[in-house]
Amino acid sequence: MKRDLLTILDLSREEIEALLKRAMELKALHRQGHNLRPLVGKTLAMIFDKPSTRTRVSFEAGMAQLGGSSIYLAPGQTQLDRGEPISDTARVLSRYVDAVVIRTFAQKTVADLARHATIPIINGLTDTHHPCQVLSDLMTIQERFGVISGLKVAWVGDGNNMANSWITAALHLDFSLYLACPMDYEPDMDLLEQAQKEGRPIHLGTDPRGAVEQAHVINTDVWASMGQEAEAAARKEIFKPYQVNAELLKLARPEAIVLHCLPAHRGEEITSEVLDGPQSAAWDQAENRLHLQKALLEWMLK
Ligand code: CP
Ligand code: NVA
Repeated sequence: MKRDLLTILDLSREEIEALLKRAMELKALHRQGHNLRPLVGKTLAMIFDKPSTRTRVSFEAGMAQLGGSSIYLAPGQTQLDRGEPISDTARVLSRYVDAVVIRTFAQKTVADLARHATIPIINGLTDTHHPCQVLSDLMTIQERFGVISGLKVAWVGDGNNMANSWITAALHLDFSLYLACPMDYEPDMDLLEQAQKEGRPIHLGTDPRGAVEQAHVINTDVWASMGQEAEAAARKEIFKPYQVNAELLKLARPEAIVLHCLPAHRGEEITSEVLDGPQSAAWDQAENRLHLQKALLEWMLK
């Protein structure tokens, strides 16, 4: 049966753990110069309705490193933009390629693509989820701390696609998640309530200091996501108290790491001092997209 990755909820805890383990192996093999080519003859199509640096390049490089190839379909360059239904697109792409990565606006588009395709569909970011990113973040945490269980993870800022993805991760893994978001900028409350009903240690408040206190991991992201450009100026005012800066970082554990999925707006959600500082793991986090997604592609396509 084909497997899709629409949200982290498509994976079991065991599958997440296996992916993290394999991603670390692939990272080590890559560093040692090994040339694995399990995906010779396989092709990945990449439909992007929003811009990207990391997701596009890490998937393309990952496919090439595994011996496969990829086809990038830029915003506005498919017949989807002229009204071809996603269901027809799904059927046709399933005849050409072995998997699709899609970055788009509505989660429903990704779900519809997956429903009508006979090949694996990977969510490369929607307005509500970014599963490949949070898997890479989990890998970075595992790498730095050796474990994920028992850690305190803080989310500071917008209740956006990344915040939702963190909630889905906390549904499966045993870390505690403290989200601090301004009022009216909360994450998906249905998801949060589901997680809390299941007894997961997930806390939502408005105070960044409380969330960060004694945290092992501090996460943030842009205040205006792709598609919210018109709200950017208003959000800048509302989110000011949610900046991850040296003063806030002092409240965390001394060994705490700071994560940012990037791209960052330096001087807004995070200061350059923190992003470039010794506690920033953002660059390893960005690199880990490559290794984690190679593990994902190998698992889905081999
Ligand atoms: N973090 C992330 O997904 O980056 P891109 O938008 O550059 O792909
Ligand atoms: N929340 C951001 C993440 C970018 C990788 C956005 O959706 O624009």
